[in-house]
Amino acid sequence: MAPIIVSVVVSLGLLAMFRWLAKSRLGAGGVCLLAAWLMFAFVASPFYFLALQSLATLVLTLACLPFRARARLAAWAPVAAVALSYGFLAWISLPDHHRHDRLREKYPLQSISGRLAYEPAAPKLDRARPDLAAVHLAAKTEQRLVEAERRRSDSRGGGSRRTMLQDLHTGTEHEFGLAPGFGDIRVTHIHISEKRLELPPAAPVPQPTRPATDGYEDSGRDLAANAVPADAANATPTVMELQSMHDAGQADFLDAERFGFVKDRGHVAGFQPHQFGQVPALGRGNGPPPELWSVARLELISLLKHKTPVAYVSQNLPRMDELSAARTRHLDEFERQALEQLRSDEDVVVEETPDRIRMVGSLRAASNCLDCHSVRRGELLGALTYELAPSSRIRHRQSSGIDPGA
Ligand code: HEC
Repeated sequence: MAPIIVSVVVSLGLLAMFRWLAKSRLGAGGVCLLAAWLMFAFVASPFYFLALQSLATLVLTLACLPFRARARLAAWAPVAAVALSYGFLAWISLPDHHRHDRLREKYPLQSISGRLAYEPAAPKLDRARPDLAAVHLAAKTEQRLVEAERRRSDSRGGGSRRTMLQDLHTGTEHEFGLAPGFGDIRVTHIHISEKRLELPPAAPVPQPTRPATDGYEDSGRDLAANAVPADAANATPTVMELQSMHDAGQADFLDAERFGFVKDRGHVAGFQPHQFGQVPALGRGNGPPPELWSVARLELISLLKHKTPVAYVSQNLPRMDELSAARTRHLDEFERQALEQLRSDEDVVVEETPDRIRMVGSLRAASNCLDCHSVRRGELLGALTYELAPSSRIRHRQSSGIDPGA
């Protein structure tokens, strides 16, 4: 709205000046001269609407000359120019308006309350005791949580999908003409790129080996019986390296781009369920070559949905759209004990034997998770349980011809 108000004020001012000039002995010629001067002042200005308006003013006043129009008529040029320039802007930005409306319909504000109905009600925040609203964490765990929160807020840049969805739904009136066409829309101050909003869901990633069905140990495993190669047995990854792998896995599973825009739990636009897009792998640190050890199995431990914690048994790496119907298994002793340590002290708990490595890693509520989840900051929302084996022992399911659905 602001540009129109400025334009109207400017043109009323001009109208007064032009009328005064027209009555003076300079007449229509004087009006044209002033209009030309104004055009040079505004065309170079960043205010595209003033530039357009002054250009229209000049053209209109000049157009009056050959017809020997009365100077008083020429004085009305600024007013006609406002109508003309805004009419033009509205016309060229019409397709943008349509696209804007269409995207709003495609990514509506929807409730996710039903999906999270299993969670206990949000803890009441006692203003006198803010410390009760957060879980007390060990110093290094708190530090890691703060760092994770900082990384996430850094990546919430102006062009992020969340900001686009937010602008789509809360942006003030679409200011036409700012950037007509070019495949993007400008609402208020940012571009809305349809391509970035779309975010196709990642294809399901099969578990590298067959998941356990009942307990953790399962006879029908796809680990080859061959001996552990000496290079793998002699060079196991460090806890730090395993921790970085878990961090990367977590970032993949809980990619904030897929959260969409959350006004509140009842109004969320563009939400896509948490899911893995690839098998987490060890990075190239100072440790053993990453190809020596790889993930054989990765499951999600659910803490809040059942009376006691359970793990989802899934043919694919965890993806929430599949897990709502998945079977669950009890945790084993290692996983139960690991969870106790994860609650406040650690982010990963590791157990290494010569032929396999097990790890449970936390999925802890950072402040941005609380937009949707009703838990306290720092609380565990779940955990990931990993098994790694020497890569040479993993018979990948596709290559061994085992039906992934079996
Ligand atoms: C935009 C809303 C939203 C945000 C933000 C969000 N989640 Fe979720 N999360 C959900 C929904 C909804 C579910 C329930 C499963 C479903 O319907 O997809 C869920 C499920 C989960 C589960 C599985 C729970 C179970 O027992 O099955 C975990 C773990 C989880 N979220 C962790 C997190 C963490 C950690 C964060 C922050 C980094 C986070 N979520 C941020 C919406 C969100």
